Amino acid sequence: MKPAPQIPDDPQPPVHVAIIMDGNGRWAKARKLPRAAGHKKGADAVKKVVRAAGELGVSYLTLYSFSSENWKRPPSEVKDLMGLLRLHLKSEIADLHKNNVRLLVIGDRSGLAADIVDLIEIAETKTGGNTGLTLVLALNYGGRGDIAATAQRLAAEAAAGRLNAEDITEDLFSDHMDTAGMPEPDLLIRTGGDQRISNFLLWEMAYTEFLFVEKFWPEFGADDLEKAVMDFKGRERRFGAVGS
Ligand code: IPE
Ligand code: IPE
Ligand code: MG
Repeated sequence: MKPAPQIPDDPQPPVHVAIIMDGNGRWAKARKLPRAAGHKKGADAVKKVVRAAGELGVSYLTLYSFSSENWKRPPSEVKDLMGLLRLHLKSEIADLHKNNVRLLVIGDRSGLAADIVDLIEIAETKTGGNTGLTLVLALNYGGRGDIAATAQRLAAEAAAGRLNAEDITEDLFSDHMDTAGMPEPDLLIRTGGDQRISNFLLWEMAYTEFLFVEKFWPEFGADDLEKAVMDFKGRERRFGAVGS
């Protein structure tokens, strides 16, 4: 059994921050702009927040960029989102690399366009040795999908006689998920005012601290991330044990 964690006197920043970047469409609507304009502005917010995360001492930043359910949107909006993704994967990688950021992608790549998969692989290879912030993009990602896919892989291993069912522990399961090797998120931020997790990191968020903010994603900036980190530092995490 894991020992009860100590609550330090000098609270540390969250190691892993996960963000549900929500509210692009409503931001645009409030300005009588097309939803695509909100997504474009949202991509600008990403740049600022990535920079700020590194400066605040965050080690992992996971951004929910496209969920496995977002295919339900009108084809034109999906096209806009994929277009922006393409554009930024091309234009931002050099800068991320220069800033020692390591890029990783989670989610089901088999559902993405081949050229986007290529761009992802190029970016992951180029930045793979970087030692600064790890930026994780969740693309065509769904928490339940990852849990089910992991169960399927482990079941296949067991059926092939390479794994005993009783060896399937929580740790082994974690080690076979898309998020294998990453620390669990310490802090989840969702912008846009809704209070739900929309199929993000379900397994990994068992003990994550949640922060829901009213601001739409395109308005979220470095100062908001700093406030979120301050809020996190004031919380007492107990992980089921007794408090201090
Ligand atoms: C988040 O903003 C972006 C993605 C889901 C890709 P939305 O597009 O969901 O914006 P709202 O929630 O409709 O305002
Ligand atoms: C969650 O936002 C997904 C992303 C931010 C990529 P949604 O806008 O898709 O979530 P729901 O539909 O409001 O739950
Ligand atoms: Mg939304």
